Amino acid sequence: MKEINKTEIGRRGFLKTAMLAGAALTMPAGLNRVLAAKTNRVGEDRRAACIRGSRVLGTGAVAFEVSALGFGVMGMTYNRSQHPDKKQCVRLLHEAVDRGVTLFDTAIIYGPLTNENLVGEALSEFRERIAVTTKFGHEVIDGKATGRQDSRPQTIRRYCEESLKRLRLDSLPMFYQHRADPNTPPEEVASTIADLMKEGKVQRWGMCEVSAETIRKAHAICPLTAIQSEYHLMHRLVEENGVLNTCRELGIGFVPYSPINRGFLGGCINEYTVFAPNNDNRQTLPRFQPEAMRANMRIVNILQAFGRTRGMTSAQVALGWLLQKAPWIVPIPGTTKLSHLEENLRATEFTLLPEEWKELENAVEAIPVVGERYNTEQQRQVVF
Ligand SMILES: NC(=O)c1ccc[n+]([C@@H]2O[C@H](COP(=O)([O-])OP(=O)(O)OC[C@H]3O[C@@H](n4cnc5c(N)ncnc54)[C@H](OP(=O)(O)O)[C@@H]3O)[C@@H](O)[C@H]2O)c1
Repeated sequence: MKEINKTEIGRRGFLKTAMLAGAALTMPAGLNRVLAAKTNRVGEDRRAACIRGSRVLGTGAVAFEVSALGFGVMGMTYNRSQHPDKKQCVRLLHEAVDRGVTLFDTAIIYGPLTNENLVGEALSEFRERIAVTTKFGHEVIDGKATGRQDSRPQTIRRYCEESLKRLRLDSLPMFYQHRADPNTPPEEVASTIADLMKEGKVQRWGMCEVSAETIRKAHAICPLTAIQSEYHLMHRLVEENGVLNTCRELGIGFVPYSPINRGFLGGCINEYTVFAPNNDNRQTLPRFQPEAMRANMRIVNILQAFGRTRGMTSAQVALGWLLQKAPWIVPIPGTTKLSHLEENLRATEFTLLPEEWKELENAVEAIPVVGERYNTEQQRQVVF
């Protein structure tokens, strides 16, 4: 798996340059000085935050070249409190496309369904340039989550057809199993996906929050492109339980979800933050209780201090740390704000020495993380 460096010119930047160049041909000489000033703005646009470099998840026939950072769309409708209206979300997604993001992550359960509908409306027109990944597994009946898992072959097939409709696509660039179904073995899930691939309905697949053993079983039946699990400076389980090593050995990519720890490492939330009662799962997580956040703020302070002498924000430190771990890792931060999108994309611009990252790790490791990442019910569903 390799990392490729490319500089993308955004669609808007290109159009602006073309318009200005065309106008210059017909303009009186005096006005050219004004244009020169404007041309500088175009120069500035070329310095606008955009993705530097692409990465490849997976190998061989299921390799997937994507931008070095993806965009997690979940929080635009689900689990991250208040969000802007649909028009603004669509505009921000278009900005992300303009700035070179080619990987957008959603799931059936987000909403449920509202997130896929938003992604279909906003992004299907770019289907030739970008890829949308979505996820099945959580049972959804009549638009409502039941809390159960269902990955039986006929259910995966139905979910696939429904996702294709909502996303307005003929084929899913990548379909993840969101959580394991205790009643359907991974081999059966893999074999259903293999059939969907033969039929052209699905191009690649992945699994979330599974063990190294499950990855091996599934990969042997149908090669996996990526594993998507929680991974960031406050949760490094995949380094310890063999998941990252297995991905490295088998040539499977890795997509860290919640790479800024659900916003916490960005430093904008704290013990006084009030989460929307009906649309934010953070209030159910032990690590996001006020006492835990107060204690864990020391970790955010470490990231801020580390970033201060390097011109980085704590969110950029969190993302940069993940990016330097391996060239086949592609984090998918989510945001509802252009300023955060720009900040996150610029995380791809920093190159630090391995010793510097080690210094950061040592400082963070010295502070115990307070509170589990999931409550008992959510914990039962992970790392099968
Ligand atoms: N496979 C799974 O089981 C699973 C589970 C959870 C999530 N995911 C995927 O991972 C994606 C991201 O996860 P996530 O939303 O949980 O966590 P995240 O990306 O770590 O954090 C998102 C939160 O951080 C804030 N934020 C973003 N950039 C920031 C910055 N530069 N500074 C300060 N705050 C910033 C956002 O708020 P603003 O809107 O204010 O920027 C948002 O509330 C999801 O969209 C989803 O696609 C997958």
